[in-house]
Amino acid sequence: MTDILEATGQKQLTQQERFEKTRTLVFTESSEACRQLAKEVADLIEKRRKENRKVVLGLATGSTPVPFYRQLVRLHKKGLSFSNVITFNLDEYYGLTQDHPESYYRFMHDQLFDHIDIPKENINIPDGTVSLDEVYDYCHGYERAIVEAGGLDLQILGIGRTGHIGFNEPGSAVDSPTRMITLDRVTRADAAADFLGIANVPRSAITMGVGTIMKADRIVLMAWGGNKASIVRDAVEGPVTDQISASFLQQHEKAIFLVDSAAATRLTRFQYPWLVGSVNWTAPMIKRAVIRLAEEVGSPILKLTDEDYNEHGVGELLASTNTEAYHVNIDVFNEVQHTITGWPGGKKDTENEPRPERAKPVQKNVLVLCPEPSDAIVGMAGTIDRLVEQGHNVRLVVQTSGNLRVRDVSARNFAGVILEMAVLAQGKGWENQRQYADSILEELEEKGEFGIDSALVRRLKGLILRGEARDAGDVCGLEDSDRISFLDLPFYETGRYRRFRLSEEDIEVMKKILNEVKPHSIFATGHVGDPSSMQALCFRAFFEAWEDCKDQAWRKDCYVWLYRGKDSDVSTHEIDMAVPMSPDQLEQKREAIRKFQSITGDEFDSPFDNQQIAKEYDKLGMAEYEAIEAFERWT
Ligand code: GLP
Repeated sequence: MTDILEATGQKQLTQQERFEKTRTLVFTESSEACRQLAKEVADLIEKRRKENRKVVLGLATGSTPVPFYRQLVRLHKKGLSFSNVITFNLDEYYGLTQDHPESYYRFMHDQLFDHIDIPKENINIPDGTVSLDEVYDYCHGYERAIVEAGGLDLQILGIGRTGHIGFNEPGSAVDSPTRMITLDRVTRADAAADFLGIANVPRSAITMGVGTIMKADRIVLMAWGGNKASIVRDAVEGPVTDQISASFLQQHEKAIFLVDSAAATRLTRFQYPWLVGSVNWTAPMIKRAVIRLAEEVGSPILKLTDEDYNEHGVGELLASTNTEAYHVNIDVFNEVQHTITGWPGGKKDTENEPRPERAKPVQKNVLVLCPEPSDAIVGMAGTIDRLVEQGHNVRLVVQTSGNLRVRDVSARNFAGVILEMAVLAQGKGWENQRQYADSILEELEEKGEFGIDSALVRRLKGLILRGEARDAGDVCGLEDSDRISFLDLPFYETGRYRRFRLSEEDIEVMKKILNEVKPHSIFATGHVGDPSSMQALCFRAFFEAWEDCKDQAWRKDCYVWLYRGKDSDVSTHEIDMAVPMSPDQLEQKREAIRKFQSITGDEFDSPFDNQQIAKEYDKLGMAEYEAIEAFERWT
């Protein structure tokens, strides 16, 4: 086991890692990395205590460090004291008071400080409420306080989708100090769910600068989940640029990236292993190499030449299989071609054809798992429509109520309508409804713009979203209401984003639905992405239930297809089933997505992603479609 803190100082890389300019350690699971790091930090704290010295930690927020904080809390319960620890947090949203549910002050206390014995005066978090004319001096003071504490021994970082560390958005200079910064659109969109709508996300923040971070003695950046894979590669292997502030860590003497296997997938050693050593040329590897080659050369697969292979580092593929480009091209072309199907539930009487789905049984029980009500519509509305049309028993199962994403205004409007109806009915028999509507309005008023919704309000918001999901399902052919089930998984009902925890109860609910539907195919999402994201937890609940069902007869003959959510892209070589859409079908999908009026998010980008995939297929030499919904087969 590599010692993480020790490894921050080591630059020697193996041949495999030669594209990585910042040392990167890959762990199978984030929990494993966090357990080890927490142990090492605990050892450092203990060692310093014996020497009568303090430890100064720079801390980060977001879902990434949460498992690390849980480990620290666990170690505290076993006796570790934080009395000699001083902390400085990276950042805070500007304008949020400490008690705002999304303030980083509140986050840090909920996740860590309230559960350990760190002296209050040792905690430093930028204050988001200092007045504009004081911000400059305040930031200066924050820098000074770090210096006076002896400088940061260890800075913990996450990474945002724009490559930011802290809130150092693109354009931040390598020597930038603690300061006020305007948040990038992507960053605000990522925080939209937490704030119940992008409009509520603050526009600016106070953040330690890149320069402040770079002065730390050691830096550990953590990244989990497939949605971080591209930015991790850019930061670790790409050029140092102020457009990706995490890339500056390449210039730090003792910086390290800790990633889980999903976040590592785009690093050269995993994505294109033939570029860093010899590989065993399996069929999936050949497919990946040829698709990459075609994309790099900008040529359809069938036009790739022996020279193209040689000049782009894949000559070994031809040599080791003792064949010519022509033959490899045809094999891969056919393989990609066979992923395309208008029959996502299998086509009758085609047993002997290479198709993604089995021909039999002709009529399948298809279970579509949808973490939040809009996810499956965004990911696979066109495919749902085809499955229904082709006579399969499709059941759309919405795992959580999604009520946290519903805007207040929708709940308020609903209550308003009830009150008007009560007036029209002149009160007769409408007393209960009136009371209900009044309570909703009162409770909304009480919690204010950012407060936490009461159970009553959450319930109403969930019901509003159910209606929208039914409307959207209707557009995709799921008119029959018993084709849609709402599970309202318990873990979601008591939590907030980035803080959910699964329980046994969630898994039981999933098990029940699996055994009820007895599916021949399951469509699921959340397999990539941050492991603590809502979608990932829903996938985990499914996975655990699936494992528990391994002796059930239906499981022996069940395919699981994975669709991509709105925040994770798919590489062409990963696609096992590509369901094409005509312009009309794409328009229908847009219409289905538009039914989700009460929520905010980037749902509307999805048809664009579907068009992108179609373009990529077209460039490889496949038929030209308007759009494609893509699936991976889970094995
Ligand atoms: C915010 C924080 C960063 C954090 C990033 C990623 O922008 N200011 O410090 O790294 O979010 O968050 P998450 O870990 O939830 O992906």
